[in-house]
Amino acid sequence: MTWFATSKTPCHGTRVPPVILNTTPQRLLTLLPQTTVILLTFFVAGCGSAKIEYRPNELHAVSLHREQGDEDHAASKESSIRAAALAERWFGTADSPIWPSDLLVGAAGANEVVRMDDVERSAGPVGRGNDRIERGLYRKHCVPCHGITGDGRGLAASMLAPYPRDFRRGTFKFKSTPTGVKPTRADLVRTLHDGIPGTSMPSFAALELSKEFQNDIESLVEYVRFLSIRGEVERRLIAKHARGESQLNPDDESAIEVVRLVVANWASAETKVLPIPNPPELTPAQFEESAKRGEEWFRSELTACAKCHGPSGAGDGNSQDFDDWTKDWTLLAGIDPKKKSDWKEMKPFGALKPVIDKPRNLAWGAFHGGGNRQDLFRRLVLGIEGTPMPPIARAINGNPGLTDDEIWDLVHYVQSLSRVTSSRVTSSRVTSSRVASSKSTLDDTMRSKPEGAAE
Ligand code: HEC
Ligand code: HEC
Repeated sequence: MTWFATSKTPCHGTRVPPVILNTTPQRLLTLLPQTTVILLTFFVAGCGSAKIEYRPNELHAVSLHREQGDEDHAASKESSIRAAALAERWFGTADSPIWPSDLLVGAAGANEVVRMDDVERSAGPVGRGNDRIERGLYRKHCVPCHGITGDGRGLAASMLAPYPRDFRRGTFKFKSTPTGVKPTRADLVRTLHDGIPGTSMPSFAALELSKEFQNDIESLVEYVRFLSIRGEVERRLIAKHARGESQLNPDDESAIEVVRLVVANWASAETKVLPIPNPPELTPAQFEESAKRGEEWFRSELTACAKCHGPSGAGDGNSQDFDDWTKDWTLLAGIDPKKKSDWKEMKPFGALKPVIDKPRNLAWGAFHGGGNRQDLFRRLVLGIEGTPMPPIARAINGNPGLTDDEIWDLVHYVQSLSRVTSSRVTSSRVTSSRVASSKSTLDDTMRSKPEGAAE
């Protein structure tokens, strides 16, 4: 996928992929499938449309103007263009990213929030300079899904479910920090290393096998952080303009304050990781007992798990909700995501068809934030930010809710579900034989090494 991201002007001065240049007509025939895909992509990308630059966030501008009751697209265009201009002034371009150090003088930790040498290596076109170091890692690995801007609108995006993440909202799902707090570096490294099983987000662990590429994941994480900060600053600037609070002049103190705020939020995340207790050591019989108690909690009013995940965790409850990325341009803009005629109005500005964020079928077992006991405990107490999956009420610091032992019971119940075949999960009664079959889960769990240690 590298080539189309590097060819700046596909019609005039097109950089033809080497696979086509270095070949004979006979071999070209054997390469027919590849060649077709390549030519098709040129066609889809369109003549001259491949200029590689960050795309202004028009969808957000239209949504915010609609929220104000203003459907004048000229006004929303102005908001998005002004915000994009300021974002470019402070964060540079897709080929030459920069860091607004001068705005951040005196802000604690602000200049360590992203490592710019890694950002420079990840951004820009794919290729090697005189130093032989490979650059353009993001275009090489991520652009077809996440898009040049990190807006989750790569060429493949509309075909995928769930859609690739739009980093610009600054919201991440699988992390070790509470709602409203950014992910840590370790959280993002883990996402890139493990991928998100059960979605199209791949694992990049193989990079680490080669000495040459072993630091690429770390570099890419810096660029995700950069794109997210740039994109969130842009969004907040759009809001200021749309609400008439600022004309977005470069020396406007309230606009500069936006940069400081977003950067400070990333700077403080590392100190806000929620500690996860060690899991209890249990015999197989105790695990079974614990999972049975967990089943009761799962069906209780207090946790409401069954309301969304269904009485046996098969994902067949009655939740029909959307994620926050979709709500941003639908509910906020007074659009009904379930009404086609309504949401289609937003399609020209970059909206993808709204898809319900379905509660997971827990029998599937492909846990997106990790499947060991501490991962699941973390997921339950933190929820999945940006989605309908809420954090559990935890009895801590005098708050009402489940004790840690009761949360472990739920974790064990959830683990017990994924070791049975889905046909048995469709029944609404969970039989004790299912819980008995969780013995293998327990054995695995006991064997699984350092839960929590380095995570
Ligand atoms: C084939 C498509 C695809 C490719 C290639 C891809 N991703 Fe993703 N990525 C996804 C999808 C889909 C999701 C959303 C999964 C979900 O919501 O559960 C995602 C989610 C993410 C997230 C958000 C995790 C969270 O906690 O919310 C990050 C960060 C991420 N990808 C980074 C990257 C980076 C960096 C690359 C390139 C090295 C990359 N992705 C390549 C499809 C892809
Ligand atoms: C309001 C609806 C709702 C409630 C209540 C709810 N969930 Fe979820 N849950 C979801 C949704 C939606 C997802 C998938 C989110 C996503 O990945 O986009 C999910 C995902 C999960 C996952 C997958 C985590 C992973 O890492 O992949 C687990 C486990 C889970 N829920 C367990 C529970 C348990 C246990 C409870 C009760 C304490 C519960 N849920 C309550 C909606 C809900």
